[in-house]
Amino acid sequence: MRVIIQPDAESVGRRGARFVADLVRRKPDCVLGLATGSTPLGLYRELIRLHREEGLDFSQVTTFNLDEYVGLGPTHPQSYRCFMQQNLFDHINVRPERTSVPDGRALDFELHCRQYEQKIKDAGGIDLQVLGLGSDGHIAFNEPGSSLGSRTRLKTLASETVRDNARFFGGEDKVPRLAITMGVGTILESRRCLLLAFGGHKAEAVRATVEGPITAQVTGSALQLHREVVGIFDEGAAGLLVRRAYYAEVEQAQSLLESGQLKALGLGGQ
Ligand code: GLP
Repeated sequence: MRVIIQPDAESVGRRGARFVADLVRRKPDCVLGLATGSTPLGLYRELIRLHREEGLDFSQVTTFNLDEYVGLGPTHPQSYRCFMQQNLFDHINVRPERTSVPDGRALDFELHCRQYEQKIKDAGGIDLQVLGLGSDGHIAFNEPGSSLGSRTRLKTLASETVRDNARFFGGEDKVPRLAITMGVGTILESRRCLLLAFGGHKAEAVRATVEGPITAQVTGSALQLHREVVGIFDEGAAGLLVRRAYYAEVEQAQSLLESGQLKALGLGGQ
């Protein structure tokens, strides 16, 4: 995993947006996997700015969201569909018919989940999947214990997640107990993953995800098996990483490579 450490939450969002924007420019009909929660908000704000001020064009982009609460319709203020409309889709020129969020009110969930997977395949697969991290180290709603080969399915939320999300619903008793979520296996099939986290409350989840053993108890750790993951963390979230100095060296080498300063890397000479 490539680890990029930024000074604060805002720069995590901006750095993440650069990866997304570069892809959209390079491949205008790319397929983006999108996430909800407070983590990607800064990234979405920056994409909206790039659209408005620099004409970043989403007209051919297709999107798939990771998850949705069971029982919430698209107009429910806490539904992830509503979140996406308010925080991104309504402010850029993505075509509504090219955006997909699992349907929390599907009557036949098994069929719906199968169709969601098929729709991703039909679109050519996900080019770049944006991910946040739950405080227990989960990705999407793949709670601890989820199979690392899991596909889109129904999942029962862990009590920790219900507690974390109670603030949005005005009480734990109002948080749905079930969600439809892409599986870990579904996420691992995306061509590239962008994992974002900020704040000291995510430090243990980040440590376990990046440097811990691969385990279904921390589903984010399955990303260690993926060949192209970029993790962007602020100082707080990176606070427990042991190999921070090495990650900084890699970034330094990377930027020398990108700016063509090969001599500084001992290349290009005799
Ligand atoms: C939920 C979402 C995840 C998200 C996580 C973290 O569990 N299903 O996709 O990563 O919350 O939320 P936040 O970004 O608000 O910390």
